[in-house]
Amino acid sequence: MEMRDDTLARSDAMPDAAGRGDIAPVPAPARKVFVKTYGCQMNVYDSERMEDALTQGGYLKTGIIEEADLILLNTCHIREKAAEKVYSEIGRIRKLKQEKAARGETLTLGVTGCVAQAEGEEIFRRAPAVDLIAGPQTYHDIAAMVARAEGGEKVIETEFAIEEKFASLPAPTRQQTIARGVAGFLTVQEGCDKFCTFCVVPYTRGAEVSRSAGQILDEARRMADAGVREITLLGQNVNAWHGGEAGAALRLGDLLHRLADLDGIERLRYTTSHPIDMDQGLIDAHGAIDKLMPYLHLPIQAGSDRVLKAMNRHHTKALYLDVIERMRRARPDMAISGDFITGFPGESEAEFEETLDVVRAVRYASAFSFKYSPRPGTPGAELADQVPEAVKAERLARLQALLGEQQLAFNTACIGKTIDILIEKKGRHAGQLIGRSPWLQSVVTTGEVSEIGQTIAVNVTGAGPVSLMAQRV
Ligand code: SAH
Ligand code: SF4
Ligand code: F3S
Repeated sequence: MEMRDDTLARSDAMPDAAGRGDIAPVPAPARKVFVKTYGCQMNVYDSERMEDALTQGGYLKTGIIEEADLILLNTCHIREKAAEKVYSEIGRIRKLKQEKAARGETLTLGVTGCVAQAEGEEIFRRAPAVDLIAGPQTYHDIAAMVARAEGGEKVIETEFAIEEKFASLPAPTRQQTIARGVAGFLTVQEGCDKFCTFCVVPYTRGAEVSRSAGQILDEARRMADAGVREITLLGQNVNAWHGGEAGAALRLGDLLHRLADLDGIERLRYTTSHPIDMDQGLIDAHGAIDKLMPYLHLPIQAGSDRVLKAMNRHHTKALYLDVIERMRRARPDMAISGDFITGFPGESEAEFEETLDVVRAVRYASAFSFKYSPRPGTPGAELADQVPEAVKAERLARLQALLGEQQLAFNTACIGKTIDILIEKKGRHAGQLIGRSPWLQSVVTTGEVSEIGQTIAVNVTGAGPVSLMAQRV
């Protein structure tokens, strides 16, 4: 368990091809890989799987970019700012590359993820320092692609492979999983068929694909065996997950029931859900499964039905509010989180105020909100009535002020309550521990490092905008 100490976490860099936890002698000098992750949790999960494949192939993982021989930037294309960040990072890496070349060493640079998929070849033209471009559905080949790039070839792979990425990527070793801590991600579904008119995801990740229940349960069992106590199921539309065996259709609620039966797994979460895939079985699961945490991330994007239609969201404001009401009936302490976009083309002031009305009606525990960013290739970018930048920003400020008040109110309402927290890591100061509440708040308390991985009861004594303070009971 001490492996979870922060300073020891890097020991997962030890190659362990046998997967038995024994440490093989490292042939010197081993090349070092640094992976930088942008964007959503699905990229976090993919980065881990690429690290697994590369470290099992002999690489050492490093957290220090300057000592890397291979850098992978696992990128996000969702908003212009996210995509542009990658190019400034490439600019800095180009200098590292020149310094290394002057010492007679090589540094290989790969761009993976959604920018790789969306821009492809264009990245080589704009940033010649890049050696490898790999889209999100090609990672099962990552080790071979890297080997080719290290041989001096410019490598690009952006096909949506028929072969299933998850089935062919190596599983992490027990040591690798232990090093990542007691709360882990597990991708169960990828891609999107919804085509919201503002969004690049259907183009960068491809069509909706579900992993099989068997594959997911195997991975969850391995995680539990390595000490993982909380699993967050991931998918761009996680609640569109479906599986089937012997003619019986399975939905996400059924999968959660099966995962809840696994020994060792104490907490389950899932993200991100779409309102139209919120079936009654999933809602009922919240009433039936104690291990399923009372937290739902359910984006609405905008409150006006006209804007929702223009966004091609396939749902109305009424449907969204109805789902939340049914959720709260199944699980009265359910915390709701959401995503919002201000200034979608054509959004009037009155329509924006409908977004504020939804926020007042729902009372969010947390939320993410963004100014609309026109993305190349999406229908929204072609619309004539783009909203001026200053208007988008002013609406975002008003929305965030309201959401900030609600988040603080939600946290403050926890003061005086006794709650269970899962201890995830040690805090900044000696004797401090950081845990997670059922409602995803970070909770600062006291205790021993050996308690990491345990669920303990605490009494909440203080609340800030992003975290709680608590005393042991
Ligand atoms: N699959 C999820 C979320 C996908 S992206 C869903 O269906 O809601 C995460 C969030 O980024 C979105 O919910 C949306 O709020 C925001 N987003 C996506 N495209 C955007 C764009 N072009 N401009 C601004 N925000 C955007
Ligand atoms: Fe993007 Fe809409 Fe799909 Fe979510 S549902 S990933 S916002 S297209
Ligand atoms: Fe970004 Fe791709 Fe995720 S665009 S939000 S990294 S699916």
